[in-house]
Amino acid sequence: MKRIFAKDLKGHADEEVTLCGWLHNLRELGKISFLILRDFTGFSQVVLDTKQLQDQIKKLSLGSVLRVKGKAVLAPKVDGGAEVVSPEIEVLSAVKDAPPIEYYRHEIPSDLEHILDNRTLSLRNEKIQAVFRIQAELAHAYRLYMHDVVKGYEYFGPNMIGASSEGGAEFFNVDYFGYTATLAQSSQLYKQVMVGVNERVFALMPFFRAEPSHTPRHLSEGKQFEFEMALWHGWEEVLDVQEGVLRFMVKHLHETASTELQTLKWDPIRVPEKPFPRLTFAEAQNLYFERTGVDDREEPDLSPAAEKELCRWARETHGSDFLFITHWKREKRPFYSNYCQDTPHLTETFDLLCRGTEITSGGARRHTYDGMVEGILEKGMDPKNFGDYLAIFQYGMPPHGGFGMGLERLTMTLLDLKNIREASLFPSDPKRIAGNRIRAKLFFGGETIRNEILRLLKDQDIRFDHQVHVPTPTSEDSARVRGTKLEEGVKAIILRGKQSKKNFQFNIPSHLKLDMKAVSDAVGEKCEFEDPIVIRERFGLVIGGVPPFGQLLNIDTYFDEKVLQVERVAFNCGLQTESIVMHPKALIDITKGKVGSFAKE
Ligand code: 4AD
Ligand code: MG
Repeated sequence: MKRIFAKDLKGHADEEVTLCGWLHNLRELGKISFLILRDFTGFSQVVLDTKQLQDQIKKLSLGSVLRVKGKAVLAPKVDGGAEVVSPEIEVLSAVKDAPPIEYYRHEIPSDLEHILDNRTLSLRNEKIQAVFRIQAELAHAYRLYMHDVVKGYEYFGPNMIGASSEGGAEFFNVDYFGYTATLAQSSQLYKQVMVGVNERVFALMPFFRAEPSHTPRHLSEGKQFEFEMALWHGWEEVLDVQEGVLRFMVKHLHETASTELQTLKWDPIRVPEKPFPRLTFAEAQNLYFERTGVDDREEPDLSPAAEKELCRWARETHGSDFLFITHWKREKRPFYSNYCQDTPHLTETFDLLCRGTEITSGGARRHTYDGMVEGILEKGMDPKNFGDYLAIFQYGMPPHGGFGMGLERLTMTLLDLKNIREASLFPSDPKRIAGNRIRAKLFFGGETIRNEILRLLKDQDIRFDHQVHVPTPTSEDSARVRGTKLEEGVKAIILRGKQSKKNFQFNIPSHLKLDMKAVSDAVGEKCEFEDPIVIRERFGLVIGGVPPFGQLLNIDTYFDEKVLQVERVAFNCGLQTESIVMHPKALIDITKGKVGSFAKE
């Protein structure tokens, strides 16, 4: 018998049907139970009215995959208007364990961290699923409009590139056959190259940003809707395309994702009948000052509070959740931005704000060779790193420009989500990579790390003394409460490479200082102390509790040779309130640390 889908069940009333899907929920009501089966079109209810059927299903955990044959009957009170009775159930994939997260509820009763810790399962939740179906429709609509209306060509640019595409420090380096490559912050340079080929181009491209902060708006990996065009009546045509595509995307959502929007109880985005309101940066600053009395008029940028307030203004006066801000100051825009002829401290650029958050940046680009070199130098970069890209400006680049709109930012603001991580299937940020907590999940947090250290020492029959004591924030405190000498203490310091942003650990005797020159010689780049907030977020450790076991944190570990010159060493083992005293040689062996001269008086 051919399989039918949940959404079509009602149309098959009084027929024998086959449904397939996941055991989503089981409601037991005495003699009768209701099995909720989930397939990709929705849910269907299956009535279990015999003990035998109930026993068969009770043995299974939620998530089991089933094939159900039975009779479809109308059931006006049930969602979908029909249910299946007298079923025969075949188990296609049995699940034994209860899932670690209650994804089968309409709303998962957990916080975002727990939801992300169980990302692979939480995605099955109805509301979360709706978010990503809507996101898929947004991407589809963008392509439709750019292809059919704008007549652009889609391009597929590289993601591992030779130089930063946006400038600044927010990029990741990767080891590329011994060379240092960069993960693209955007496909900016390549879309400009493609304008010289196809005039109007678009893409949905990954971007990577080494954003050290943990805000609700920033990810370290995301997608950008890219667009670039040339030969316009004026650069504001880019804003018209941006506006047009957004109108189309919102209309498309209403047409294709109404079920998902209902599931989310969507507060519809306000798209004005008239053009989206536009303010220049200076007007926006003045307006913010007039409305709040907060005087940021000398600032080169808008604060998040100002963005929120200006969007409130757009909604009140224009019935719009979208607001363009144009003509930003040159100092704050990337090297490729074109400046205004009459007011060269300003640029032909814009941001689009949606419900208080920037979703797009764009504008006109410099398009002459000399102009581009000037822009690169102005931002302290080296034109040599832009060889191929620069060359296009010697061989005919028209006036051109475009925009980059964040897929996750757009999803977040359209759906009014609180945190951008809710709009990313597998979010990466300073704490997570592709949804997973960075480093082995096992070794996050002081207690987990302490347990692992004790386990390692016991496993290898290493002699050690484990002490529990009052908190010891400083090395002097530690020596006193442990009853050891200051020089027996080991200071575990977490550094960050200035270039690579990688963490390193250097362990030195407590009474000495780190020799930063020796450090940079050892790791091949200049280093600085890692921020305690990052240490807490990334490793779950507080300063004073960090143990010299960098390998448990997955970071390269170094020891100063003077650590080996004492009879015994003492260190905090993950917590400020616990220490271990042991033989230095055993410590270095077990941590597989590299030994060198890294400390000075
Ligand atoms: O404002 P950005 O950095 O501009 C560019 O990348 C330019 N190449 C665009 C252009 O064509 N001139 O990034 C564009 C958009 C932002 O407005 C935001 O929506 C998103 O990309 N974005 C991020 N989203 C989440 N987390 C991050 N770290 C983001 N960085 C950029
Ligand atoms: Mg921007």
